Amino acid sequence: MTSFVITVDGPAASGKGTIASALGEAYGLPVLDSGLLYRAVGVLLERAGGDLDDPAAAAAQARALTPDALSDPAFRTRRAGEAASRVAVHAPVRAALLALQRSFAAQAGGAVLDGRDMGTVIAPEAPAKLYVTASPEVRAQRRHRQLEAQGEGVSLADVLADIRLRDERDGGRAASPMRPADDAVLLDTSEMTIEQAADAARRIVEAARAGRA
Ligand code: C5P
Repeated sequence: MTSFVITVDGPAASGKGTIASALGEAYGLPVLDSGLLYRAVGVLLERAGGDLDDPAAAAAQARALTPDALSDPAFRTRRAGEAASRVAVHAPVRAALLALQRSFAAQAGGAVLDGRDMGTVIAPEAPAKLYVTASPEVRAQRRHRQLEAQGEGVSLADVLADIRLRDERDGGRAASPMRPADDAVLLDTSEMTIEQAADAARRIVEAARAGRA
């Protein structure tokens, strides 16, 4: 296959990470988990005693981020998700993370990009774009199971409240990153198993590849 970029955007715990991994495996493409970049910026800034709501401090942290500093399990916690969504609202943070994400997208062979603004900002020219959704209740149940598996004890009601707050913060602004690209195919995974969602995603990509041939 010649260079092929697939974007997978959607709200928190919609299943996009799982779908992006499945597509990466199916097509032998590297996967960028862009949420991890924002999580790392938030956690590292907090650790350094910085203010998550200070755009300049958060942007400085974002500029200092290196890809080899992304494997810390602390970036996968609920607190990290919260910190990520606070630093992600700052335009200078988004700008500081742009080059790293675009160069990942531009690598020979292609890539799968998982995030919020992959199809709109990072790789608007991508030939295959998915926008993955699920109801807030289903997403809360999934995230709750995931956090429990990581050993984080938290109630389902609290996780649902987190999801609603995150949706509001990620989507509530005029320049919100969370909107489907005009040419994205919507995939609602509320009623789907992981296998069904991955199959549906592959069919969408196959249709995009056929349309491009
Ligand atoms: O996808 P994940 O839950 O790891 O993302 C954490 C947070 O990072 C999101 O709630 C969002 O605020 C932010 N984010 C973003 N743009 C991306 C990826 C994540 O604003 N491309």
